[in-house]
Amino acid sequence: MLGKAKTLGEFIIENQSAFKYTSGELSRLINSIRLAAKVVNHDVNKAGLVDIIGAHGDKNIQGEDQQKLDVYANDIFIQTLKNRNIVCGIASEEEDDFISINSQDENNQNKYVVLIDPLDGSSNIDVNVSVGTIFSIYRRVTPVGTPVTIEDFLQKGEAQVAAGYVIYGTSTMIVYTTGHGVNGFTLNPAIGTFYLSHPDMQFSEDGQIYSVNEGNYVHFPQGIKNYIKYCQMEEGNRPYTSRYIGSLVSDFHRNMIKGGIYIYPQTAKDPNGKLRLLYECNPMAFIAEQANGKASDGFNRIMDIEPTELHQRVPFICGSKNMVEKAEEFMRQQ
Ligand code: AHG
Ligand code: MN
Ligand code: MN
Ligand code: MN
Repeated sequence: MLGKAKTLGEFIIENQSAFKYTSGELSRLINSIRLAAKVVNHDVNKAGLVDIIGAHGDKNIQGEDQQKLDVYANDIFIQTLKNRNIVCGIASEEEDDFISINSQDENNQNKYVVLIDPLDGSSNIDVNVSVGTIFSIYRRVTPVGTPVTIEDFLQKGEAQVAAGYVIYGTSTMIVYTTGHGVNGFTLNPAIGTFYLSHPDMQFSEDGQIYSVNEGNYVHFPQGIKNYIKYCQMEEGNRPYTSRYIGSLVSDFHRNMIKGGIYIYPQTAKDPNGKLRLLYECNPMAFIAEQANGKASDGFNRIMDIEPTELHQRVPFICGSKNMVEKAEEFMRQQ
């Protein structure tokens, strides 16, 4: 069916000249992510057959129990990027600190750093529900040939050069942006090739789906409680439908295709929410904005937030523009 469709490889080559910097380095980097995604996809698909479901036994720096696939996906992405000598630094949800890749070597001309959530929605692995990978790419701000520093990673989302996600769902897709719109590619598993199946993805301005873990309702700020009641009220095109998978990638992907809003607010227990600014919120915000959507912490644009630490958390409201603006209105009134 996709016989005439462009492959991801063809798309990357054709669009290389649209990149601001045309050394080919960014293209090679996206190619490496494509390769790692195929390896992880292969293992996610047989997770029930081999001994890779369940807990790994360790906690990550954020205090979460690591799943075996969290650790596995982390290793695959880091090894693939390291082996190809394609970036000068990596930061990951599963690593305490950032990793420097020969960045102190004066012959190393690599300019990019990658920040990654190797396996998003890992609590869903054991129950055969879609999971994902999220990536975010920046140009380093320190000079090439010197060691990367924390400054290279703590950049505003606004400075992202590219961002994307892989969704390991009923089919596996890569969705990404380099600042020229958002395109989605579906894997044909028989031949291991991604095809352009979703060109120029867009959020509708309004949607009818809201996605939030309502089990935490009592702990939400009053503005979010009021917005949820607004979603449930019978008026105009409301009540909206509630859909929450518990994998940010999957919830976001559905909302981008169908129109909707995703909310992970601050709670009494977690005053900054749960989601990570650098690995989750910034890349999703970049994709959302490139797809005519919006991403906010309730008051500020996500991509304007000045990061202060690698594993920083932030409240996250993201999706169809008018829905996000309505939620912000409720937050301002609370
Ligand atoms: P991760 O698996 O990378 O740690 O991310 C989990 C995140 C995100 O995917 C999801 O939207 C959210 O946690 C779900 O959290 P709750 O279970 O608290 O709703
Ligand atoms: Mn985690
Ligand atoms: Mn995640
Ligand atoms: Mn994760």
